[in-house]
Amino acid sequence: MSGTRSITAATPEHTSGILALLRAAFESSAESELVADLLADPADPMVSLVALEGDEVIGLALFTPVTIDDAWVAMGFAPLAVHPDHQARGVGSRLTRDGLDACNALGHRTVFVLGDPAYYPRFGFEPACPLGYRCEWVAPGDEHEAAFMVRGHDAARTPGFVRYHPAFDRF
Ligand SMILES: CC(C)(COP(=O)(O)OP(=O)(O)OC[C@H]1O[C@@H](n2cnc3c(N)ncnc32)[C@H](O)[C@@H]1OP(=O)(O)O)[C@@H](O)C(=O)NCCC(=O)NCCS
Repeated sequence: MSGTRSITAATPEHTSGILALLRAAFESSAESELVADLLADPADPMVSLVALEGDEVIGLALFTPVTIDDAWVAMGFAPLAVHPDHQARGVGSRLTRDGLDACNALGHRTVFVLGDPAYYPRFGFEPACPLGYRCEWVAPGDEHEAAFMVRGHDAARTPGFVRYHPAFDRF
């Protein structure tokens, strides 16, 4: 990484840059609308990290709370985005690792993600359905099952239905 790049907690001054980044990184506007809502009315707890190059926001990692069978709380990792001009240079990996560390510091070792099964296992994520987790977007046996992953599964906790923050209902 060049010396001008840094990872830092998002502040209100980053919001317009974050939304521009999301519009560039995703085909649909759903992600930028989701994040606009969450930045205006943050979930508690929430981890939002930006990658900066100079003053420009080139990456975002967001973590919001999820409930499991309304019995315990973990974190959901979404979205992760790196501006197309800055991809494949380690920015997404650094955002992911720093974000997982920040969740851990908040006492949340267990983190769920819905994403590319070729990308997330390198950070310790493993398939969630075989461990007994479910969520509203993935059913065991369907073609997207492998996209639903968990990191830091705690054998002392009972797996169950993972419900994301209501802002995710738009998906
Ligand atoms: C997915 C994404 C965040 C990765 O960020 P990035 O900064 O490009 O990733 P990194 O540079 O840290 O990638 C590290 C490695 O992952 C690989 N990689 C990147 N994206 C990948 C993908 N979608 N699938 C598989 N491997 C991927 C890179 O080739 C690289 O491999 P290497 O270490 O063997 O060279 C970025 O491509 C992106 O924003 N994509 C569009 C939005 C999106 O799909 N977000 C994820 C869903 S919420």
